[in-house]
Amino acid sequence: MLGLPGPLGGVRAVAVEGLTQVGVHPDHSRRGVLRAMVGSHLEWTRASGRTLAVLKASEPGIYGRFGYGMASVAALTSFPAGTKWTAPQGIVDLAEATHTAMATAEPEHAERLYAVWSACANVHLGMVARSVEDIARTTRDVPELRVGKEPRRLMFATREGVDVGFAWFRRDGAWSAGRPAGTVDVTWFVGVDQGARLALMRRLVDLDLVTSVVNWVAPDDPLVTWLGSPRALDARTTDSVWLRIADLPAAVAERGYAAPCDLRIEVRDHVIPANDGVWRVVADATGIGRAERTDGAPDLTLDIADLGACWLGGQTIGARAEAGFVVEHRPGAVLALDAALRTLTLPAQAADF
Ligand SMILES: CC(C)(COP(=O)(O)OP(=O)(O)OC[C@H]1O[C@@H](n2cnc3c(N)ncnc32)[C@H](O)[C@@H]1OP(=O)(O)O)[C@@H](O)C(=O)NCCC(=O)NCCS
Repeated sequence: MLGLPGPLGGVRAVAVEGLTQVGVHPDHSRRGVLRAMVGSHLEWTRASGRTLAVLKASEPGIYGRFGYGMASVAALTSFPAGTKWTAPQGIVDLAEATHTAMATAEPEHAERLYAVWSACANVHLGMVARSVEDIARTTRDVPELRVGKEPRRLMFATREGVDVGFAWFRRDGAWSAGRPAGTVDVTWFVGVDQGARLALMRRLVDLDLVTSVVNWVAPDDPLVTWLGSPRALDARTTDSVWLRIADLPAAVAERGYAAPCDLRIEVRDHVIPANDGVWRVVADATGIGRAERTDGAPDLTLDIADLGACWLGGQTIGARAEAGFVVEHRPGAVLALDAALRTLTLPAQAADF
């Protein structure tokens, strides 16, 4: 599931195809095997009725040529032990009404984690929720993969007996010069609201014998905003989700829009010819959109990867135009498409899959 922009600022979860790690034996590389695999994956995506395919890239130079756009960004944050967040009182009240409890992660937790995660994909833009089977496989403890750290732990957040979030993490138990120097390494961090997230993070920075909590977040994550400045963080950024629009007219109808538009867009797609050509894209005042083929002269020209980059609001059409990727033929067309695709927040950082 992926948290997609809904009409006029909402978010709704939709099923998408995901591509996990790919590998080609070095004896057979650079002969088109990856190209064939991605082509087959995208055909399968369309045949299964999905409009979007997503992946996380080990190298950024590979997937743009297949029509994927870099759709969200992750910032590495390191919160020192004892960090105090100055969140508004309403959020503090929610956090204080939230109970946290730890467990060692087991495949048996998968259904419980999926229930919270899929609920979050309906409220957090760009959130990718893994399937029950995938969570069960990932939470199985493999001692050889601990690399000197403890088994993975879960911290559940509950409110009035209902799960509202969880963190999946492990500590390294490091010591330096007779002092604790450990790190809490968080891999999944999910909360249905910001109170649940604050409660989890407050508890994580309060664990004994650690000096910091390391987590990947969106650059505009409230955990950063509540600290007043990104200077408080030793933040490095990387690309998170790459998104590929597999079926353009279906994807246009599936997504919601922030502002009305009526544009003729020339879309270049060298991998999926069914998307290639000039489309009339209309979004109405209720944030519902549709796309149909047209023969008219285009208002602007872009690559399918430009739309993928902007589909979750992680990049803007304006910035893509400034960089020269989106070409405007009618004044105002870039502004209109930019306004329609805008989102209230940046997309969430998505856990690996
Ligand atoms: C990356 C990998 C999957 C590529 O497979 P491959 O079969 O050699 O790729 P192809 O021959 O189909 O190449 C397709 C295109 O991608 C390009 N490409 C391949 N690997 C690339 C890389 N590491 N960086 C940039 N471009 C790359 C090729 O030049 C080719 O471009 P072109 O069509 O414009 O000429 C393979 O080299 C591999 O297994 N590497 C190690 C594991 C890895 O990095 N996996 C990737 C992410 S999980």
